[in-house]
Amino acid sequence: MSKEVILTGIRSNSELHLGNYLGAILPVIHLQNKHAGDYQFNMFIPDLHSLTTPINHDNLFQQTVDNLKIFVAAGLNIDNPDSYIYRQSYIPAHSELTWILDCFTHFGEASRMIQFKEKSKQLGDEAVSVGLFNYPVLMAADILLYGANWVPVGEDQRQHLELVRNLAVRINNKFQKPLFVVPGEWSEQVKFMGQDQAARIRSLRNPEVKMSKSIGDPAGTIMLSDNPDEASKKVMAATTDSQAKINFDFKSQPGISNLLQMLALLTDRLQQDVNGEWEGRTGYGELKGVVAAAVKDFLVNLQARLTEVSADHIMEVLAKDEEYISGVANKKLLAVQEAVGLRPAV
Ligand code: TRP
Repeated sequence: MSKEVILTGIRSNSELHLGNYLGAILPVIHLQNKHAGDYQFNMFIPDLHSLTTPINHDNLFQQTVDNLKIFVAAGLNIDNPDSYIYRQSYIPAHSELTWILDCFTHFGEASRMIQFKEKSKQLGDEAVSVGLFNYPVLMAADILLYGANWVPVGEDQRQHLELVRNLAVRINNKFQKPLFVVPGEWSEQVKFMGQDQAARIRSLRNPEVKMSKSIGDPAGTIMLSDNPDEASKKVMAATTDSQAKINFDFKSQPGISNLLQMLALLTDRLQQDVNGEWEGRTGYGELKGVVAAAVKDFLVNLQARLTEVSADHIMEVLAKDEEYISGVANKKLLAVQEAVGLRPAV
């Protein structure tokens, strides 16, 4: 029997920051380590998704490769025989299946996607593309082409995953055959991810919001390319609160909780253990000092490892994996084309 598939996509159209690292990259690496041998592991770059919002097109190609270098420096094992890395746009079956899935997606259900509504609000009418509307259907193709059971993503992708499940069930029922594997429902995904569910790291300056490069918040955002000393200064200057007592509670103390969360992830300890050590204490400066040192350490190590990563090797693995994955994707696409009548029934 073939192995169950774990599949995840990490967008790569801009330079990465600590929030991306702790929230998206690290969980994927943990899952890979935990499940090596037992599962097939697809880690792909959804570069077509990158076109759904305004980006710098001059950088897109190179940024994808640069970010893959960071994944490797961070510990992603691209030589593991059960793991595949690939770029979505190199596998045309993704776009082809998206069109077919589009024709089975109700306009109303796509219109209910919260992320679309929120992003549209931020962008303003001119910049809202049909591609942005179609984003979750492309995501469905990404997942359904490979029969993925497990899709480790953050809570913000939960509604998209539910759409994927609905589409798979709808199409399987309509054609009366198990064309698509239906990925596990959200509660099962959460159980599967365990400790490795994507954490949401906040801005150091404004801990009410996610750390982000796009909101123009250099003091609140630690880029992975930041000078380690500068980065530790950003931590020392982090916004906290005036309660003068350390508590892990994002509602009342988002700044402090953000620091505790970063500390647990950076030092690979359980959140409850870190909280147990710090809760009830009053030294905000002391906590900041410890987190600042952990951030500095982390950046020094990561940046050193990055200089040893071979871009040539990454390009070789991409070429090899993309060839194999194309074969898998084309086979599934053909089965769908047959079911919907685009190819002769077999
Ligand atoms: N939408 C995901 C995100 O923004 C990225 C993504 C695209 C993805 N296709 C996917 C994640 C398929 C998992 C599976 O984080």
